[in-house]
Amino acid sequence: MRETFSSSSGFALAAIGSAVGLGNMWRFSYLTAEYGGAAFLVLYIALTVFVGIPVLLAELSVGRGAGKGPIDAMKHFGGKRWSLLGVLFVVTGFLILSYYSVIAGWTARYGWESLVGSLPDNPASHFEQISQGIPAVIWHLGFMAIAVTIVASGIRKGIERTSLIMMPILFIVVLGIAFYGSTLDGAASGYRYYLDLNWKAALRIEVFTAAAGQAFFSLSLGMGAILTYASYLKKEESITRHALVIAVADFGVAFLAGLMVFPLIFALGLSTQIIGTVGTENDVGSIGALFITLPEAFKTMGSSGYWIGTLFFLALSLGALTSAISILEVNVTSAMELLSWSRKKAALLSGVLISLVGLAPACRIEILGIMDALAGNLFLVVGGFALSVFVGWKSIESIRNVDLSPRLRMIWIWLIRVPVPIVLSVVAFYSVMNL
Ligand code: PHE
Repeated sequence: MRETFSSSSGFALAAIGSAVGLGNMWRFSYLTAEYGGAAFLVLYIALTVFVGIPVLLAELSVGRGAGKGPIDAMKHFGGKRWSLLGVLFVVTGFLILSYYSVIAGWTARYGWESLVGSLPDNPASHFEQISQGIPAVIWHLGFMAIAVTIVASGIRKGIERTSLIMMPILFIVVLGIAFYGSTLDGAASGYRYYLDLNWKAALRIEVFTAAAGQAFFSLSLGMGAILTYASYLKKEESITRHALVIAVADFGVAFLAGLMVFPLIFALGLSTQIIGTVGTENDVGSIGALFITLPEAFKTMGSSGYWIGTLFFLALSLGALTSAISILEVNVTSAMELLSWSRKKAALLSGVLISLVGLAPACRIEILGIMDALAGNLFLVVGGFALSVFVGWKSIESIRNVDLSPRLRMIWIWLIRVPVPIVLSVVAFYSVMNL
């Protein structure tokens, strides 16, 4: 018998755990800073609603309908040829996790350093030292070891239990820090940057493509993570309700992360630093923005900074962990199905391979940047494009179990047939031209 999540809330928290992660805080805040604040935010919301949620429903439906991991699920509904899309999902997950866990390693290290009170005096040079080479490798391997242990323990005992414990902690911490941020003098200029819309910026195509990629990354779409979790969902659960809950929680945390980060950096006069250094030309500046600016903010804040910093990096590490296990699960479920491996063997071997590939981004931040642009943006968009074409045009029966009212269902099917593939192909084309 195939395992299932034991309860509805267990599945919901695991799927939210997958969605909420470094993407909501690290990636969302540096992209928002880079692409002009509110302009980026508005596009990101629109793309989440009109592109993200339709694809999310499709993934949930295909996964639960087939009751199999991505490669077998695509084969189930579409035959041998479409199983290649499942292969793309697995490869994408493999690549994403290999660099995601490097960033998660930095995060955990910062959490530890804040806790023991050794946040550095010069955050920029500290980040440069720990983000590449042996220190990064060690924390990357440690993080992968924890993820492997959880996934090896199974859906209920590993993934569900971890999410049940960690997600509520994360929510409380994020809410608490966002509230604290609002009490700082100067928070208003942070909010203004974050929430004041500059239409001209919103009309730039690169802002649009970054927002589309971010909507996919943040909702864990386009690589079969949600599909795989849904394959462990009981048949009587409502897919539509889950899709809404996942999307609202994911957006909620990203939005709160902005409410937390922007007041902090503006109140402490660090805004020129973050907005000035963020830029595609300089990987350390953009990828490291959060890791350089925030510790500086925490340092200046004295003893409250100690607590806020520790809690912030702790929450971020928990979010990274619940996302990482969902990516690993894509590989593990696939290996169990295709190679008939036991869960433990699949978790261990995939974990070792992913850790080895991760040595490259752990040693060179430029490689990490390239992997994020390719796997974390382009491949997700291509995967989402192919899935929406598949579901909309090729295999309508794969979405039989979506419980929308007839009218909403018609709108949804139209969305994944026409606008979603068009938008995603434009985004993919533009991203390829810009590589
Ligand atoms: N959604 C996760 C985050 O925001 C990352 C992720 C991407 C997880 C793709 C699974 C699949 O951090």
